[in-house]
Amino acid sequence: MGIDLSVEIGKLKLKTPVLVASGTFGYEDDYADLLKSNRLGGLVTKTLTLKPRQGNPPPRTVETPWGMLNSIGLQNEGVDFFLEKKLPLLSQFKIPLIVSIAGERIEDYGLLAKKLDSVKEISALEINISCPNVETAEECLFAQDFYLTYGVVKAVRESTAKTIIAKLSPNVTDIVSIAQAAFDAGADGLGLVNTFLGMAIDIEKRKSKLGTLYGGLSGPAIKPLSLYLVYRVARAVKLPIIGMGGIISSADALEFFLAGATSIAVGTGNFINPQVTKEIVEGIEEYLKGHNLKSVRELVGALKVI
Ligand SMILES: Cc1cc2nc3c(=O)[nH]c(=O)nc-3n(C[C@H](O)[C@H](O)[C@H](O)COP(=O)(O)O)c2cc1C
Repeated sequence: MGIDLSVEIGKLKLKTPVLVASGTFGYEDDYADLLKSNRLGGLVTKTLTLKPRQGNPPPRTVETPWGMLNSIGLQNEGVDFFLEKKLPLLSQFKIPLIVSIAGERIEDYGLLAKKLDSVKEISALEINISCPNVETAEECLFAQDFYLTYGVVKAVRESTAKTIIAKLSPNVTDIVSIAQAAFDAGADGLGLVNTFLGMAIDIEKRKSKLGTLYGGLSGPAIKPLSLYLVYRVARAVKLPIIGMGGIISSADALEFFLAGATSIAVGTGNFINPQVTKEIVEGIEEYLKGHNLKSVRELVGALKVI
């Protein structure tokens, strides 16, 4: 019996439901074998901005119990450098490419989307409105405000026909209302979630262990929290979800499908084991075979609620 691992998010067709999350995957020689393996559903790039960004002062990462804090600050070489130097390398791999974009103001997102709209090698755009490590022209993250979320997604929607995924922040009081705003503005899918705000303090120096005061927590420590948010949003908003936050095994991934995610992404898990996404795909396949299921889609939202 053939197992069908394919899923769809808007017009985006993924051969497997396992992606690598933005900012956590080198995409040149270091991961070439994995990219050629045909097991990854897609690759989400490090977030790009209109102009290059230097990022935050070091140290930018700190290990914490069952996770890590980061304050990279969206360091990247800018969209033009990406198109000229990185895209040709990436497009050799026959794998859907989802480009993550961010800006300091709503107009930046529209400009980026317009620029990328005609690039045929790019399958979809992920709108990062949830990075906790950068300042915006607004007083909060875009994803912390219903109207700003609507405004950014709408600006991107009006600038591209590509599939758009809004990546949301867990650092909000009511993620469902933010997800609804993204839906209303025309998003095709949701990325849930970005990192949770957190701190780590060096008690001898009485200073933050990061170069900034706080950063974003990721890894297994956040899995129960992100799973809960995926469940809440999946029940309320009719958009496919890319679930992420602490996934490091196929069992973790399966929990996210049952909670309502259509696909999943692995971030911090790649640092622990660069082969983890391949192992997760194999584990999902084994589970489906063992439970006489033909398609991973049968699991999406199949949690039994008493
Ligand atoms: C070092 C690091 C860099 C990240 N950079 C980005 C980024 O550029 N854009 C983005 O949307 N998310 C970024 N993230 C967040 C991840 O994509 C993901 O949403 C989050 O880490 C939760 O998943 P995980 O627990 O599997 O890592 C980054 C995370 C880490 C750990």
